[in-house]
Parts: sequence; C-alpha cells; structure tokens
Amino acid sequence: MSNTPWWKKSVIYQVYPRSFADSNGDGIGDIKGITEHLDYLAKLGIDVIWLSPVYQSPNDDNGYDISDYRAIMDEFGTMDDFDRMLARAHELGIRIVMDLVANHTSDEHAWFVESRKSRTGEYRDFYWWRDGSVAPDGTRLPPNNWRSVFSGSAWKYDEATDQWYLHLFSTKQPDLNWENPRVRSEIYDMMRWWCNKGVDGWRMDVISLISKNVALPNGELGPDGYGDFGPYVVNGPRVHEFLREMNREVLSHYDLLTVGEASGATIEEAKRYAAADGSELSMVFQFEHVDAWLNEPAPLVDKWGVGRASMPRLRAILNKWQVELAGQAWNSLYWNNHDQPRCVSRFGDERPEWRVLSAKMLATCLHMMQGTPYIYQGEELGMTNKHFTSLEECRDVEEINIWHQAVDELHQLTPEQMLDCFDHVARDNARTPMQWDDMANAGFCPDGVEPWIDVNPNYQTINAAAALADPDSIFYYYQRLIDLRHNLDIITDGVFRPLLEESEAIWAYERADGEHVLTVGCNWTDVEQPCDLWDSNAGEALICNYAQHKPGVLQPYEAYVTLR
Ligand code: GLC
Ligand code: CA
Repeated sequence: MSNTPWWKKSVIYQVYPRSFADSNGDGIGDIKGITEHLDYLAKLGIDVIWLSPVYQSPNDDNGYDISDYRAIMDEFGTMDDFDRMLARAHELGIRIVMDLVANHTSDEHAWFVESRKSRTGEYRDFYWWRDGSVAPDGTRLPPNNWRSVFSGSAWKYDEATDQWYLHLFSTKQPDLNWENPRVRSEIYDMMRWWCNKGVDGWRMDVISLISKNVALPNGELGPDGYGDFGPYVVNGPRVHEFLREMNREVLSHYDLLTVGEASGATIEEAKRYAAADGSELSMVFQFEHVDAWLNEPAPLVDKWGVGRASMPRLRAILNKWQVELAGQAWNSLYWNNHDQPRCVSRFGDERPEWRVLSAKMLATCLHMMQGTPYIYQGEELGMTNKHFTSLEECRDVEEINIWHQAVDELHQLTPEQMLDCFDHVARDNARTPMQWDDMANAGFCPDGVEPWIDVNPNYQTINAAAALADPDSIFYYYQRLIDLRHNLDIITDGVFRPLLEESEAIWAYERADGEHVLTVGCNWTDVEQPCDLWDSNAGEALICNYAQHKPGVLQPYEAYVTLR
C-alpha cells in the first residue's frame, strides 16, 4: 500500500468561498471566514479542500471570470489572508487544491484588454477573434452559429476592431486560444507560481473544452436557432496533447492532486485524462450521473426541466464507471457541487421525516465506492434546495440569461414553469449561505447585514451547531465514513462488484480484496424492502444509518455495510 498516492485515500471538501462564511460583515463570504472554520473541517476529518476561485474577478460568474490570476479578489481579502489560511490548513493536516480556470479569462484581464485594442497587437492571438458577416437586411451575423452555455450566441461583436470574439460562457468570459504556445506558457508559469507557494493541486475548470477544432464549423441547430459546439470543442482535437504538456511542464514537478472537470467525457476519454500512468491528471469529474435526469423526462428547454433520474438509471451509470475504470484510471465520486442542486433534494428525500436518513444513505452509497469522494459544503448537514419565488432572488448569470431568453423573448416557458425548473436544477440552490447556526442569517453574516444571496429559511433546524450537538447527525455520520476510508484499505483498493442489479429499490455492491469482502446495501425508497444480501453470511456491521439493522430487510432509506 505504500506507493498508493495520498489522493487515493483522501476525502475532499469543496468550499465555495462566497457562500461559506463572512468574517467582516459585508454579506459576502471571504478567506478569513474560511480560516475561522478550519477547525470545523478538521473535526469532520476531511483531508483536502477544493477552493472554488478566490482570484481577482469582476464576478460576472462568481469568480470563474478571472481578471488577475495572481491576486485575491478584494471582497475575499488579501494575499496575506490567503497565506495564513494555507499555513493554518497545513498545520491541521488539510491540503488545499485551487481552481484552475484557464479555458477563459475575464474580459477585464489585462491580456484581453490589450487583445481587443487592435488586430495586430501582441495579445490579439491570445483569444479567438474572427470576422462575422452582414445579412442582406444589414444585421451583423457572428462567425458561426454556436450557442453559449449561458444562452444566446457564443460570439460577441467588438466595435473597436470590427471583429467578434468567442465566449463559450458569458460575454465577460472570452475563451483563451490554447493553440497559441504563449497562452500555454503563461498559464503554466502561473500554475508554478501557486505550486511554489505550497498549494496541493488543481481542480481544472471545463478542461475538456480547451482545445477547439480551429475550423470552428457550425453546429447542429437547436430550436432556439443556435448550434451545438459540442462535437468541435468537447474533448477537442489537442486536449490530451495539451494536458500531457502541462503535466511535463508543471504537474510532474510537484506532488499534486489534479481533477479535471470533464463534462462530455466518456469512459474511453476518462481513461486517457486520468490514465493510471500519470501522464495527464489524477482523475476527472464525469457528468453522466448528474445529467441522467435529462432523459427522464426530456427537459423543457436546454438543461432546464423538472425530471428526476430513477435509481436504476443512476446505478447503471455509476456501476459502469466503477467496473470499467478499475485498474486503468481513478474515479472521482460526487453527488453535488456549486453547479448542481443539493443531493438530498435531487436524489434523496428532503421531506422532514426522511431527510436525515436519505442523506446518510446517499453518503454511504457513494463513499463505499472506489475513487476519491467529494463533499460539497453543507452536504454534511443535509442542506436542501431553496424554493425560488421570483427572478429577483436569483443571482446566477446562467439563471438570469435563460429567464430572459426562454420567458421574456421566446415565450417558451411561463415564469411559474421557469421557477419550477429553478427549484429542481438552478445552481443557486447550492450557493445559498452555509448554515452555521440558528441565529440571524444562519450565522453566515452578522444580524442586520444582507447576505449577497438569501439564506434558506430552513436554517433554524438545519445548521452546523445543531448537527454538532446531535451524536446521530449527518455530520457525525460523514465523520465515520471518512474514518472508515482512512482505516480500511479495502475501501480504496477492493474490487467493485455490482449486486442485485435487477432490484428497482436497492442499490447494492461489494468490494473484495482477496481476504475480505465489504457488502453495501442501500434502500432508495421510503418503504421497507426484503433483502437477502446477508442471509448466508452476516459479517461484522461497519456502519448503518439505523440504530438496528433488521435481518432479511432493509428499512426505508436504510444503508447497511458489513465486512467479512
Ligand atoms: C465550470 C464551473 C462553473 C462555471 C463554468 C465557467 O463549469 O464549475 O461554475 O460557471 O465552468 O467557468
Ligand atoms: Ca466578507
């Protein structure tokens, strides 16, 4: 076991700084707020923090639009605050992984400010500039028909030089041109600078999009009149070449955890991104399970819908990733993050009588698999989605843009339908403030201060103080799961075998290492289910979300794990 890299035995906790803890009473989470709560994270037992972006940013997309990679966002504090947080985390044995947002910068980044000035400037080729055309009626048309992830055209016309620039995300997030070797070397330099400061790795934002088919062909048209860039951008032609170069130039010189956000990654692609030979990244975030609901039933517009993926479908997807990556690439394990709704609302059962049990069940189901588990802030409290009652409550550029397009312009959805979609999938569900206690503003910011986004009204019952005071809380259950991973190698190394694959209600599997067998059974329904998994061989109970497991059944939302 000695040559197992540390990140294979680690549990990661994602902090979304804007919503974690506000130390200076301006309603916005900040770095000192994180430092003040490191003891809480140490108590939970996590090994690593993935820190969503803290760099200087005009905040069009909450820090995923960076205007200076080597400075801290004013609202979040100073570089000294950052250094103190890193030092304190390291003292507590917690590593810190940074967010690398290198597919695009902010339009306020110095490179783009220079780039847009003239067609021949030194930085012109740092971004994707192209000529458009003019329709017979005089309207300007973009260079191609691509749709931005955040609605509308992926191109913006810029008068200064009479050309258009590409932005796969918001108009304030121009895409960097990775074809240009100078772009790549600037990014690598910046990464070295942070690695030399002592950070412990990188979560790589939309890394599967950095290489584009340079012909920029039109995509297949959707009902909104825009084309899909997918086939020309997702897992693009040179993406593996670029990552291998980054690995040679930067990653291989440090001891890092790297995880690529790889929407659109298939098993075959993931085997390359996360190859066991270490030539690219440690692991990727695949999206199949979080996108599974898109088929059940079809969404109303683009990603927006109110569907819910069935357990058998989720199980088929994650079981497949477990079995097929084994020995060839490493899995990341997650139910939610800052872009996804809260998992207890989406996959579990947020009704008061089932919330705690189903949250623990989901945790068990994921944490006993092979891979590196990620916990999103508040998941360890069973925080739920927020109910949105008007557009004014929404903060996310993605929500605001789709509302304007689908409700105001195209009249595809009524406001009520759009809000219903938001309740199910809006990113703001994950971004409401962390619920620390039952005081005003959930202890996120002082009484009398308005938080940048509303607190979920259920903070009076769902909060960290209450969880810490209750030995049966979801918090302590996660603590035990983390502890088990640290103490039992079989959770890292055991071979994964799916069980009961015909069951509509129970998700079960085992892990075997030649000596021992770990058996995991999770009831995904609110009714008791017969279950013969342990009939012939009971084994020693490792963890259960009920005080008492009953032989021959799994109680509603029961999760039960044994070792023999
Ligand atoms: C990633 C981030 C998301 C962001 C987008 C553009 O998907 O997780 O929050 O909006 O990239 O940077
Ligand atoms: Ca603050």
